[in-house]
Amino acid sequence: MIVTYADIDGFKNLSGVSFAPDPKYNIIVGPNAQGKTNLLEAMWILSGCRSFRGSKEKDYVCLGGERMSAKIRIRDSVREQKIEFEMGRGNSSPKNITLNGVRQKGTRALFDVFKCIAFIPDDVDIIKGSPEKRRNFIDMAASQLNPVFVSHITKNNAVMNQRNALLKTIMQRGQGSDILEIWDRQAAEEGAVISYMRHEYVAKINEICGRLYKTISGGSEVLDLEYRSNVYKPEDFDVPLGKEAADQYFRKLRETAEYDIRTGSTHCGVNRDEIVIRINGVSARDFGSQGQIKSAALVMKLAQAEIYMKKSKDAPVVFLDDVMGELDENRQRFVFDMIKDMQVFLTTPNENALLPEIKGKILRISGGRISDETSGISAYRE
Ligand SMILES: Nc1ncnc2c1ncn2[C@@H]1O[C@H](COP(=O)(O)OP(=O)(O)O)[C@@H](O)[C@H]1O
Ligand SMILES: [Mg+2]
Repeated sequence: MIVTYADIDGFKNLSGVSFAPDPKYNIIVGPNAQGKTNLLEAMWILSGCRSFRGSKEKDYVCLGGERMSAKIRIRDSVREQKIEFEMGRGNSSPKNITLNGVRQKGTRALFDVFKCIAFIPDDVDIIKGSPEKRRNFIDMAASQLNPVFVSHITKNNAVMNQRNALLKTIMQRGQGSDILEIWDRQAAEEGAVISYMRHEYVAKINEICGRLYKTISGGSEVLDLEYRSNVYKPEDFDVPLGKEAADQYFRKLRETAEYDIRTGSTHCGVNRDEIVIRINGVSARDFGSQGQIKSAALVMKLAQAEIYMKKSKDAPVVFLDDVMGELDENRQRFVFDMIKDMQVFLTTPNENALLPEIKGKILRISGGRISDETSGISAYRE
């Protein structure tokens, strides 16, 4: 799919940014703090996902401004669709999201319309950060393949919040254990589905990551991923997801219930899952060099794109925030080769740090405005 038109105004420091992107490469150039990442972010939120840099919705509106609006047109193999996101400052003016002119309750519908993948410098946290970062990555990627997954995650989070609140109540008042068992039944239903989906996605991505990492490291290193559930052993997943799997999860929750009550939090289940990432057989998180960690994160994102491509006839749109210029020539070439058939928006302070074969439309951003987007040849990198 491709973005055919974007119009952003009042989002953070962006003002009157309106352009028709190139179907292939769009190179967003400017010094620091001019709004390059903001421009990617404004487009990204129209995919229904939370900000890739963790910004809160209330900070979308320009400081000192009253409203923000972001509009985009997306064309896939079937049709062109229009997404609009408008929001005022403060609680009194709710956000207004429309898809093809029809008002939407939330961002859920956008998820199916506009698919994109963002590469950002913080991606190294998938390797280096807490287990939660890895779980989130897998969950996001798996949800892109199967949006039903989102509702299981949401439901599980709600059940876990209830369960943890109840644990504290039981600890303080000594009653409510019978209700805990009811929550545990629900947690087991959701947890079993999530475990199986994570297991399946990690197996899928592991295969691709292995191949890509071998290439990016010049054939000398091996990357492998392992999903580590504290409820199921690897061979348990040979049994298809069903009542037995949920029962097993339920029994595990029951086993730790007493300890959970004493401590006021849940100690087993999907919120304690780990995804182990190894390079040459040892934990990349603990022993990886900076270069290895960077390559591993890149490969995981590229694998996500490849899995998505296999499933859908429409390639996702790719956002590369300050990533290309940071990579050496070989790695840039590797990434470039993987994404060459997709529409790409990339930011860089210095277009000369890019490979010469990355040619496309140049958007110069200064003080939140496009300073140089003349039509025709002069705005293209040839
Ligand atoms: N809510 C906001 N309102 C106005 N300006 C903002 C807001 N949030 C961030 N900014 C400004 O956006 C700029 C940073 O934009 P960013 O896209 O991160 O820059 P870069 O070009 O380095 O990627 C800074 O000047 C910052 O002050
Ligand atoms: Mg930036």
